[in-house]
Amino acid sequence: MRTQVGIIGAGPAGLLLSHLLHLRGISSVVLERRSRDYVERRVRAGVLEQGTVDTLVAAGVGERMLREGLPHHGIELRYGGAGHRIPFEKLVPGRAITVYGQQEVVKDLIAARLEAGGDLRFEVEDVALHSLEDRPYLTFGGERLDCDVIAGCDGFHGVSRPAVPEGVLTTYEREYPFAWLGILAQVAPSSEELIYARGERGFALHSMRSPTLSRFYLQVPPDAVAEDWPDGRVWDELKARLETVPGFTLATGEIVEKSVTPMRSYVVEPMQYGRLYLAGDAAHIVPPTGAKGLNLAVADVRVLTEALAAYFRDGSAGLLDGYSAACLKRVWRAQHFSWWMTTLLHTFDSDDAYGRRLQLSYLDYVTSSEAAATTLAENYVGYEW
Ligand code: FAD
Ligand code: DHB
Repeated sequence: MRTQVGIIGAGPAGLLLSHLLHLRGISSVVLERRSRDYVERRVRAGVLEQGTVDTLVAAGVGERMLREGLPHHGIELRYGGAGHRIPFEKLVPGRAITVYGQQEVVKDLIAARLEAGGDLRFEVEDVALHSLEDRPYLTFGGERLDCDVIAGCDGFHGVSRPAVPEGVLTTYEREYPFAWLGILAQVAPSSEELIYARGERGFALHSMRSPTLSRFYLQVPPDAVAEDWPDGRVWDELKARLETVPGFTLATGEIVEKSVTPMRSYVVEPMQYGRLYLAGDAAHIVPPTGAKGLNLAVADVRVLTEALAAYFRDGSAGLLDGYSAACLKRVWRAQHFSWWMTTLLHTFDSDDAYGRRLQLSYLDYVTSSEAAATTLAENYVGYEW
């Protein structure tokens, strides 16, 4: 079997790449370890930057997102007994975010690929990469797929990055002394906009998916497991961390999903080796506080598509050679923003009273200085270099 681009992973990165390549007349095969049902149900991110929305619309896969997604023009920072709105419409006019679940993006992309007769293989076993310097190929479940190029879109725990010979990639990494417990609940959101809440009990985030579905996150110890958090405990803690301003009451409902996400910052450089190109979480991870992970994956894929289109058009490899450098500037901006939002809003056991005062002072600055608030808003909606 042969294709132009062998894609490992049917997350947002792999599926979008396959779709964008198809629009350019470039063939691909997507190999995914999990079932279609599993990837369509996996609840993860929910905030789409303007650039991500524009990319999906331009690619003809934005129709349901435009219908069902929720445009947001601000977020609230809640701390010290008060809420402070960061107004995007004033600080970054014309730019906003759209709240639309990652698994909905995945569903829309899978539907588009299948409708176009795309080759998506689910539940493939033992994907392995070979001959990355020249004439690369993939093996899986006893089959062989020859490719011109391989795209490693298989997330942080995939097989692509480890296939690069030792010593080639430089790793930059930071771990955080906490995790996030995420839940999805069948209840109308208690706020029209997202609330990022900092308090002595830890961070909490109120997000949403629809007028009847709410999404919440709680800062929890790094070794926490979902079983530590029966529903009653989750609601008690969310109330304790969010009902901190006068007149705000959190509505509760049935919890339909619960999972723990570790918090990590991670980058490998370069994001390519030979004929292998890494995109999305396979190359970099951010803590979710800045809502950047999914958006970075989409941005990588946009760059990779242009580079592959030039390569397959006339053999010019300049853009492909520069792929990693073109992505890393944005990746590092998002790294800094995600680290900054995380340190601003979480409690750290290692922090002394001085550290906590610094954190509150910075929050006061961000919520009172237009320049500081603009920095947050500009990065949150997506900074374009
Ligand atoms: P992924 O979505 O991870 O897709 C990779 C795909 O490759 C998966 O389908 C996987 O099954 C497949 N795969 C892996 N190994 C193999 C293999 N050996 N062979 C074949 N296929 C393989 N970001 C936010 O902004 N907010 C959040 O709340 C948030 N929550 C998250 C929760 C979790 C548990 C995780 C892991 C991530 C979360 N993120 C969040 C980050 C965001 O979801 C990711 O940045 C985004 O999914 C990246 O897309 P991707 O396509 O690069 O990788
Ligand atoms: C969501 C996730 C995030 O990481 C974030 O910063 C904001 C919202 C969400 O899942 O809705």
